[in-house]
Amino acid sequence: MKIFLDTASVTEIQKALTYGVIDGVTTNPSLVAKEGREFVPLIREITALVPGPVSVEVTASTPQEMIAQAETYAAIAANVVIKVPVNLEGLQVVRTLSKRGIQTNVTLIFSPSQALLAAKAGATYVSPFVGRVDDISGEGMALVKDIAHIYGNYRIATEIIVASVRHPLHVVEAARIGAHVATIPFATLAQLLHHPLTAAGMERFLKDWEKVKR
Ligand code: G3P
Repeated sequence: MKIFLDTASVTEIQKALTYGVIDGVTTNPSLVAKEGREFVPLIREITALVPGPVSVEVTASTPQEMIAQAETYAAIAANVVIKVPVNLEGLQVVRTLSKRGIQTNVTLIFSPSQALLAAKAGATYVSPFVGRVDDISGEGMALVKDIAHIYGNYRIATEIIVASVRHPLHVVEAARIGAHVATIPFATLAQLLHHPLTAAGMERFLKDWEKVKR
C-alpha cells in the first residue's frame, strides 16, 4: 500500500521524506490555509520536494472555471494531481481532464455510488473520507470495503485513497482491505510505529549494555 502524507506543510513533508516511507502528498484548501503562504509558490515547493503525486484541489464552481484552474495547477509540475469534488460539475471536469492526460483525485467521497461514477468519468484516484464518516457514527472502513468490492467486480483501474485518516487502525484496516493508498496526517505516521513493548525492550537493552565490559 502506498502512503501519502496529508499535509501542505513543507516542514512535515521534508521530515517525513527522510523516513523513506512516503509515496506522495495530498493537500486540500483547509490544509493550505493553515500554512498562511501564497498558494502557487507553496505548491511549487511541495511538488519539487515530493518524488510522487501531489494532489491540489480546485475551488471554482463551474466546470469551465475548474478546468481553467486545473490547467494552471497542472502546469506547475508533472506530478500535480487535480483534486475535484464529487458532483455533476466535477464529473465533467474529470472527464475533460482525463482526456487531456491530467490525473485526477475525486474527493469528498461518502458513498459507493459516488465512487462508481467518479471511476466511470475517468478518475485516477477516489478519496473516501473515513474519519468524517466515523465522526457521524457511520463506518468509514465499510465504505472503503464496498468501493474495493465494486471496483474489483469490474477490474476498475481507479485507485482508492483512504483519506480523513484519524488513527493507526484506519491505516491497518486500509491495508487489510487492499486499498491502493492511505493518506495520513504527520502525527499518525509516528503513531504507526509506536509500541510500548518496543520502547520497554529498548530501555532494557540499553541498561544491560551498560553492564557489558568493553
Ligand atoms: O485531504 C482530505 C482529508 O484527508 C481530510 O481529512 O481530517 O479534515 O477529515 P479531515
